[in-house]
Amino acid sequence: MDMIIVKGGQPLHGEVAASGAKNAALPILASALLADGTHTFRNVPDLADVATMLEVLRTMGCEAARLTGRKKDVCEVALSGPITPEAPYELVKTMRASVLVLGPLVARFGRARVSMPGGCAIGARPIDQHLKGLKALGAEIHLTEGYVEARAKQLRGGTVNFDVITVTGTENVMMAAALAKGHTVMENCAREPEVEELARVLNKMGARIEGAGTSVITIEGVDSLKPVDHAILPDRIEAGTLLVAAAISGGNVLVKHAQVEHLEAVVDKLREAGCTITVEAGGLRCKAPRTPTAVNITTTEHPGFPTDMQAQLMALMSVSNGTSVISENIFENRFMHVPELHRLGADITIQGHTAVVKGVKGLSGAQVMATDLRASASLILAGLRAEGPTEVSRVYHLDRGYERLERKLRSLGADIRRVKARG
Ligand code: EPU
Repeated sequence: MDMIIVKGGQPLHGEVAASGAKNAALPILASALLADGTHTFRNVPDLADVATMLEVLRTMGCEAARLTGRKKDVCEVALSGPITPEAPYELVKTMRASVLVLGPLVARFGRARVSMPGGCAIGARPIDQHLKGLKALGAEIHLTEGYVEARAKQLRGGTVNFDVITVTGTENVMMAAALAKGHTVMENCAREPEVEELARVLNKMGARIEGAGTSVITIEGVDSLKPVDHAILPDRIEAGTLLVAAAISGGNVLVKHAQVEHLEAVVDKLREAGCTITVEAGGLRCKAPRTPTAVNITTTEHPGFPTDMQAQLMALMSVSNGTSVISENIFENRFMHVPELHRLGADITIQGHTAVVKGVKGLSGAQVMATDLRASASLILAGLRAEGPTEVSRVYHLDRGYERLERKLRSLGADIRRVKARG
């Protein structure tokens, strides 16, 4: 099993590019189920989660593959033969986002059998809202043997008012409604840029969706959709993580493809922390002071501060000048990085869903363990600042959502390498 060793101390300098967005690529790959023919998706990040989604699609009978050589950012998904509309436990348990095939399958093939994703490291993460939405479109839902079985000869438009704002729930129901008969109104929708991006792709396929990116989405169902060629938008969370890498190292880095309109809450907090953030040709530059100022953070749905950046900002706050209060409001257990940051010398106290971070003068390298995707990023970021080597194990979590992060950081001057773990 790989581990990453980072020796802190060097301010990062230079330019680095954000890859395509994981959380847009996953629903977009699933949306290929909605139309026959060959779809071409570009700027698809080379990540373990993307590989899992391609595997899910292949298991059902699609041809789904990443091209090689100079086209390795391109994935093609083709539907021609018969489909087995089922996502098995073995795949769903490795990636919850596999549940994104549920909506397209029932809309297109009239039935779906998808393993229920269990809880995960960051929270219970139920899918009741996905099911509520599909029921509102006329699907019959049964839960048997750990699987969700959904059936509908023809979905019909309906009104869905989500009780909880959910990103993949909004995406699943939006994909289903694209092929439902009649008019659908979805209320209290997630407004994330990835939801908007999925709607853009569906509309290119011939869907009639309006309002994505706002809390009310309306959809006029169509009879059929056609395949598309689409380049996926840049990953705002990866871009944000790279900006924090510049910030925590006291460096000066241009993150190419970072889009300020998708990162406003993060940029605001970095500015409050004393960084100079400028919009430059095709990206965002972060020029950081040696010691950041403490800022308070409250995670909320987009356009609020993203939960997917909470762990990274906490790493930054651990070396700030002052005390920072960080509240996590999306997931109930997303502070698993805290005990690991303690091992590096951070002073953090958890009270319920709030962490009080007292900035310390310096961190010192140690062996730490990644517990989930964003937690692994935060440990690497902390390692960039720590004195001495930090060894981060279980980096398979990192590889689910960051494309060669260590190479990107090394290109900015970080002393970081990946090694095979001992034993
Ligand atoms: N929730 C429910 N019922 C549902 C769905 C969600 O109660 O039916 C709750 C969840 O338990 C959670 C909250 O609603 O407390 C928000 O969850 P949401 O459904 O929005 O999360 P998700 O769609 O499963 C996506 C991202 C996550 C990101 C969250 C929040 C993808 C593939 N995943 O998950 O990304 O943290 O939205 O923004 O889009 C990551 O990339 O590291 C990651 C975890």
